[in-house]
Amino acid sequence: MNELSRPGSRSGESSRRDRGRRGELAAAVDGWLLLEGDALSCTRALPSGRFDMIYADPPFLTGRDFAAAGGASFSDRWPGGRDAYVAWLTPRLAEMRRLLAPTGSLFVHLDWHAVHAVKLALDHLFGPQLFINEITWAYRTGGAPRRRLARKHDTILFYARTPRYKFHRLRERSDLAHRYGFANAGVQVDARGPYRMTVMRDVWEIPALRGNMPERVPFPTQKPLALLERIVALVTDPGDWVGDFFCGSGTTLVAALRGGRRAVGGDLSREALRMTAERLQKATAPAAGLHTGAQ
Ligand SMILES: C[S@@+](CC[C@H](N)C(=O)[O-])C[C@H]1O[C@@H](n2cnc3c(N)ncnc32)[C@H](O)[C@@H]1O
Repeated sequence: MNELSRPGSRSGESSRRDRGRRGELAAAVDGWLLLEGDALSCTRALPSGRFDMIYADPPFLTGRDFAAAGGASFSDRWPGGRDAYVAWLTPRLAEMRRLLAPTGSLFVHLDWHAVHAVKLALDHLFGPQLFINEITWAYRTGGAPRRRLARKHDTILFYARTPRYKFHRLRERSDLAHRYGFANAGVQVDARGPYRMTVMRDVWEIPALRGNMPERVPFPTQKPLALLERIVALVTDPGDWVGDFFCGSGTTLVAALRGGRRAVGGDLSREALRMTAERLQKATAPAAGLHTGAQ
């Protein structure tokens, strides 16, 4: 496993001093740290109970290979089928659970291919009472199947390490067809019509990234910053630690840094980590700010 950190950061100095004492290395992270390697070895190298939020966006069991222009690639083919996939993912999720602080949470991003099977594994790891939400990320992308509905959502499973998990009640805009019946319920009106702010639901409509969007790296399975910034805002505070050990192009880490959190990322692909490092350097530019996607 290799390390890559912001040049001159305390994490970089610490790693040179003592590469064997990972606990101390991790405790010294001030900004961001990237680890190159399998999620299992990266997580095993870190101390227990320090992370406030971990997001996992692993391969989804799609049966496909993914490649980006810059050379980053990963395979999502599982000759042993779903059982082999779950058997591979479960020990990595168990390590992520170990890394969580008592107030921390894990978010596992999947789709219809395996979410049902992984939810059972997570219930077993955390206990079903620590399942908090199943977030539906709904988007509109191309494709018009003839014999089924278009599959236009992913599922993000949210589990807490303990019942003392940190949680910020975010609010969202709820458009109203008319004001009638809402006279005393904080109805506001703007160019889009009447609306009120309500407690955020577990269905999130956030546009998927398209090729011409400025935040596009491009990385084949890159997630929108608005999605990750919302998760970061939901369960962490400035200064907290955020982890992503399938970090790809580094969206989670960028969201964390823009919100004043500290970030540790890992990935098997060196090219993906290069993209991540570049994005992190830009994200720490002074103009960056937190955007939760909530209105
Ligand atoms: C779905 S992508 C993550 C995309 C990321 N959320 C983003 O917004 O760019 C999955 C990532 O997991 C990485 N990966 C696959 N197997 C891995 C493993 N065993 N350990 C660590 N990373 C792995 C791939 O290289 C890929 O970058």
